[in-house]
Amino acid sequence: MSRLFYVIGNPIEHSLSPVIHAAFAQKTGLDIFYEKRLFDVKDFAGQLRRLLASEPVCGANVTVPFKREAYQVCTTISERARLAGAVNTLSFQKDGGVFGDNTDGIGFVNDLKRLYGGKLSEARVLLLGAGGAARGLLAVLPTCVRAVTVANRTEAKAFDLAAAFGVCASSLEDAKNGTWEIVVNATSASLSGAVPAVDPGVFARSQLCYDLMYARTATPFMQAAQSAGCPNVYDGLGMLVEQAAESFQLWNEIRPPVESVLAALRAPH
Ligand code: ATR
Repeated sequence: MSRLFYVIGNPIEHSLSPVIHAAFAQKTGLDIFYEKRLFDVKDFAGQLRRLLASEPVCGANVTVPFKREAYQVCTTISERARLAGAVNTLSFQKDGGVFGDNTDGIGFVNDLKRLYGGKLSEARVLLLGAGGAARGLLAVLPTCVRAVTVANRTEAKAFDLAAAFGVCASSLEDAKNGTWEIVVNATSASLSGAVPAVDPGVFARSQLCYDLMYARTATPFMQAAQSAGCPNVYDGLGMLVEQAAESFQLWNEIRPPVESVLAALRAPH
């Protein structure tokens, strides 16, 4: 019988996770069933309890807006999930225990390692945004790079978050005075067609600009970075596949191939 997994979110219709996990299963020869599951925004814990009572689910990925609620239902959590304050990967144990992990930060770092030509441990990173996505990255990123600066539209949130993780903070305005090799957009600005109000010189002086969002065409942030002259601009599809690979490995104890699955997703259909 196939091992059963879900990705839970609201909305969930456009999630690529089932396609990614199906490709991993095919390439590793494992028999898994991985599907989307729409949860009502109210009562995540109750809906999860009923799901587990009715089906032998092995694990679940959790996406917007449930990553904090997922954290609450865990009986044990990884250190990186504790730091992120959010869980995107649940493992359901036979004794009823629930283990929670957060693979977003390591997925992002693994993608950066592939994309960044220089030595990542020497790179300075400007992280735009101070919400849940930024927090997920901060659980892992600071130990992998030389320095991180958080900048956010609401300045106080940048300073609070930076203090919690022992990194630097800046307003979006003051970022014009700094130089970072890597600039990461962890804001939700692209969703509304906007770009964080950063001086284009910041993009021009960087080596790599990365938007956690992904889309068939360049996001507004990617367009702004490209127009400013940044030589390497990427969307977050690589991170999506990398975080999925970490979840897959946790559940199935096999490392799936990332490169070939990512290449297939990027290929025009
Ligand atoms: P997520 O879980 O995706 O991180 P969030 O917690 O709601 O979502 O955080 C959204 C982040 O995007 C915030 O840092 C927000 O800035 P504020 O703290 O000032 O609200 C940022 N953001 C959203 N729209 C933005 C825009 N147009 N320009 C700059 N930052 C924006």
